[in-house]
Amino acid sequence: MANLPILQFEDKILETVDQNTVAVIIGETGSGKSTQLSQILHRSGYTKAGIIAVTQPRRVAAVSVSRRVAEELGVRLGDEVGYAIRFEDRTSERTCIKYLTDGVLLRESLSDPELKQYSVIILDEAHERSLNTDILMGLMKRLIRLRASNLKVLITSATLDGEKVSRFFSDCPILNVPGKLFPVEILYSSEQPKSYIDSSLRKAIDIHVNEPEGDILIFMTGQDDIEKLVSKLEEKIRNLEAGSCMDAIVLPLHGSLPPEMQVRVFSPPPRNCRRFIVATNIAETSLTVDGVVYVIDSGYVKQRQYNPSSGMYSLDVVQISRVQANQRAGRAGRTRPGKCYRLYPSAVYHDDLLDATVPEIQRSSLAGSVLYLKSLDLPDIDILKFDFLDAPSSETLQDALKQLFLIDAIDENGTITAIGKTMAELPLEPSLARTLIEANECGCLPQALTIAAMLSVEGTLLPGRSKSTDKKRKHPPSELPDGSGWGDHIQLLQIFELWDQTDYSIDWCKDNNLQVRGMLFVKDVRKQLSQIMQKIAKGSLDVKRKERRRDSQHDYRSLRKALCVGYASQLAERMIHHNGYRTLGFKCQLVQVHPSSVLRTDDDGMLPNYVVYHELISTSRPYMRNVCEVEMQWVTPILHKLEKLNVSKLSGGSDQSEEKTTVNSDFPKKVGPIDDSSSRIQAARERFLARKTNK
Ligand code: CDP
Ligand code: MG
Repeated sequence: MANLPILQFEDKILETVDQNTVAVIIGETGSGKSTQLSQILHRSGYTKAGIIAVTQPRRVAAVSVSRRVAEELGVRLGDEVGYAIRFEDRTSERTCIKYLTDGVLLRESLSDPELKQYSVIILDEAHERSLNTDILMGLMKRLIRLRASNLKVLITSATLDGEKVSRFFSDCPILNVPGKLFPVEILYSSEQPKSYIDSSLRKAIDIHVNEPEGDILIFMTGQDDIEKLVSKLEEKIRNLEAGSCMDAIVLPLHGSLPPEMQVRVFSPPPRNCRRFIVATNIAETSLTVDGVVYVIDSGYVKQRQYNPSSGMYSLDVVQISRVQANQRAGRAGRTRPGKCYRLYPSAVYHDDLLDATVPEIQRSSLAGSVLYLKSLDLPDIDILKFDFLDAPSSETLQDALKQLFLIDAIDENGTITAIGKTMAELPLEPSLARTLIEANECGCLPQALTIAAMLSVEGTLLPGRSKSTDKKRKHPPSELPDGSGWGDHIQLLQIFELWDQTDYSIDWCKDNNLQVRGMLFVKDVRKQLSQIMQKIAKGSLDVKRKERRRDSQHDYRSLRKALCVGYASQLAERMIHHNGYRTLGFKCQLVQVHPSSVLRTDDDGMLPNYVVYHELISTSRPYMRNVCEVEMQWVTPILHKLEKLNVSKLSGGSDQSEEKTTVNSDFPKKVGPIDDSSSRIQAARERFLARKTNK
């Protein structure tokens, strides 16, 4: 620790912070920004006036870095050093260094816009350009004007274009912490891999057999690929002739790794044993694993991309940017000279890769963020003109406003409503927050809380329902309820209620192939959400689940209605005579129910006429994931509302000319199933295009 590069700059850092309200600190990954900066400021007394907050875009990083800092300071995690991530707060009154996700800090600014408890706010890992960090940067710009005398803001980054951030903050100083990186030899493949899993496997074994000691870090795109490669590697290693090379262990590293597995990655390896660390891009900059000498870079990353005109997310494996490729390579030179094997030709690196990664704010739905900004109650703010480091497209902002309008969070003038304010207090995406409020009105809050909790847990709860594949469950667990035909939300509810009847038995989860940790987390999240709802309604809520169970036996009507209100911008209508759907409300999109869904067809083999969906995602083709049957009479008022929509008024801008948007032209004038022949042709075309892009 003593030789971390950043420590040699302690005086310079303190001087800069002392003389400036904002500063940018750039330092190579592993130079000690995340773990040391807070301690440097703590040592020199900045925690006397308040807490030092350090934001992290990733939950795993907040947990792992705070654990490390607590260790270095010799304190118990949660005492002087703690962390706060959504649904998990490990801080106490004594906490003076607090690691938190950027989302949590954003939420805290709702109840305390001046963030008075903090003396220093460090926006860490700013190069990741996460949506929430970008919004925080905009808010910090306002905040430093209000609190110039008693707040310090630091923005730290490994690769960020420091000049740009400095300009954003009226030319604040930039401090460069030169890292000591050893040279890394870059080796290119002669052609693009057919399968990057197999190419990585071959390369890794090749290194293991032929190269001297040193850990191997392999960049994969996601948890599924990681798991595949881990098991292939383990098999290959087992089959190597005994004694032909040193021992080896294979370790996965990704965002939803259980804590005991994370610890394994950060604890020192056994002697004379090579580690294969198979990681997502989390190991690019936010987590540093020591001991890596070889890096295998597939050249790909999995990226979520939102299309505001269709309301659809796609989860695409895309080429990394050059900045990312360089970061990955750098991981090999931390302790001694290393090698980076790029599984693609050098021409690809030079000609095909983008310079930098597209910031998340330009590829996400902004409904949640815009709701925050609206509820912050900043004087005369025009969302379309908010000061962003890189502005999102106006199409995305308008899409967010439309969504918020449809779920009653803002009125037709773009002013936040009472409902919207309540929604913003819930740590949930707008659709689920709205569902809870509606459910409270119609007496089914207990069930809605369960559904919101089940949907809020990261990772997968149910067997064989991996988030990133389209596979059907191979062995549908017969014991588990099936949503009684109403769809996935109801199934999630029924599963939790069954578990509740077993008094939360761990064995029951195991018998039914449910993730134990995930289910326990759901229970905890449900309790927290229920407490927040109680607080909002000042104790007048009906959250006693058991008394309400009788209603659950039937058609779940009030619950499905509440879901319909919450998912008002996520509606779809079935096309006559076949089981394809088209989305309503936004640009018409032809979609299918995801194969993992439990939504049932009727006796004629037909799916329900109307459904709401939790998510629209385009993997091999456009799918609605987590769907629930709703009734046409609930859909009609939503479509009427759409007709009234005027985006420029919604944005709260001064320009209130009667410019109607084009959304209306795409949804049916007459509510009801649409003309079949044209929709069929359209559906066929969609299928063709989906197949084509898939090739
Ligand atoms: O933030 P930055 O990339 O500049 O570095 P850091 O995360 O502060 O890491 C500094 C050093 O602490 C590295 O050598 C890490 O390997 C080590 N570290 C660790 O061993 N365990 C952690 N949970 C976090 C950091
Ligand atoms: Mg860091």
